[in-house]
Amino acid sequence: MNNFIFENATKTYFGKGCVKEYLGCLLKDCGTTVMLAYGGGSIKKNGLYEEVTAILADAEKIVVEFPSIMSNPTYAKVQEGAALAREKGVDAILGIGGGSVMDCCKAISMATVYQGDIWNDFWARPGVVDFTPLPLGVIVTVAGTGSEMNGGAVITNEALKVKTGRDYPKCNPRFALVDPTYTLSVPKTQMLSGGFDILSHIMETYFSAPDEENVSDDIAEALMRGVIRDLRAAAKDPLDYTARSNLMWESTMAENRIIKLGKKMDFQCHQMEHQLGAFTDCNHGLGLAVLHPAYYRHIYKYGLVKFGHFAQRVWGIDPAGKSAEELALAGVEALAAFIKELGLPTTLRELGITDQSVLKAVADSCNLAPGSYKKMTREDVLAILQACC
Ligand code: NZQ
Ligand code: ZN
Repeated sequence: MNNFIFENATKTYFGKGCVKEYLGCLLKDCGTTVMLAYGGGSIKKNGLYEEVTAILADAEKIVVEFPSIMSNPTYAKVQEGAALAREKGVDAILGIGGGSVMDCCKAISMATVYQGDIWNDFWARPGVVDFTPLPLGVIVTVAGTGSEMNGGAVITNEALKVKTGRDYPKCNPRFALVDPTYTLSVPKTQMLSGGFDILSHIMETYFSAPDEENVSDDIAEALMRGVIRDLRAAAKDPLDYTARSNLMWESTMAENRIIKLGKKMDFQCHQMEHQLGAFTDCNHGLGLAVLHPAYYRHIYKYGLVKFGHFAQRVWGIDPAGKSAEELALAGVEALAAFIKELGLPTTLRELGITDQSVLKAVADSCNLAPGSYKKMTREDVLAILQACC
């Protein structure tokens, strides 16, 4: 194992009924005025809004609503939220939703108390958070990003056409309420999109140095097998609680830093998808499903050991009679077949992306990750994007 420091400041409550049981008590440490932040309205359809507002009323909180956080949240939305929080003297934020709501809330929690421009000082480049953001608690409603147990926030600057994420430990939510029953109302395509995002997070961590046996990769292999099993079961029966609750915890486990310990990490596919999102506002998990097989076909030869382990240990492929290269490629093709089996998109065209100039703009602006088995060039990125058309 390589050296590491581990800390995770989020207290996580997992399971059926956890909001009813714990939210009232957790609100005691949230001051008098709470910003209730949420997305486009799914929480008003599935009953969660009524449940939470009743608990807030019982706790005698002054509630400042901040609705309509969009998927792929924008910097403008962050600034709007911070201005409202300042105007109303908000003491704490309660975010209810998926990655978009949670990420937007983390950025608002910083922007509310920071004097300067948080985009310039913390998203355009890594910064040092030497102040305390507003306290944040989250209620997760869709499995996928794992944002509930990290300090990561992915924000789109529409003016600059840049979508980028940073992980600041001071932005970790103080608490996360993770009740899988809330995810049962997620539309099937979004459920699969989130599920593929989970798998992507694990793969992007796994496919990077070190390649010798290590605990982080052992956990990652077990998690990948679990996500594949649970996604298959959830695709067949979206109301399968065992599968949906496993997916929810797999989502958190993939991004709560545990499998990243001692790892260099790749996340090149995420970098490509984020810029695709900046130019087209495409769905995060669906974009990743399209990009992954093409990216791995491009790099597997440079990471034969790890891709071989992936084939054998994650997909159960028999290595007998196969060269190292054949075995590694068989794992990548098993992943591609799984994406098709789930009915996820396999081309950019299916995401409505047909403009070649967009691909060039994405390739020219996307971050080149240091952890990839093959140090990518802009030409590599463009070739991968073109292979997805
Ligand atoms: O907005 P509402 O009406 O709530 O509807 C949402 C939205 O349309 C819907 N939804 C969520 N829970 C629901 C539900 N519909 C019915 N019932 C429920 N219980 O799902 C749609 C998608 O929600 P969103 O939050 O956008 O999805 P996701 O969780 O995939 O988040 C995507 C964002 O997170 C970023 C992505 O780039 C993207 O901006 N990421 C954040 C990460 C992090 N902070 O660690 C890591 C990820 O790699 C990712 O980049
Ligand atoms: Zn992701």
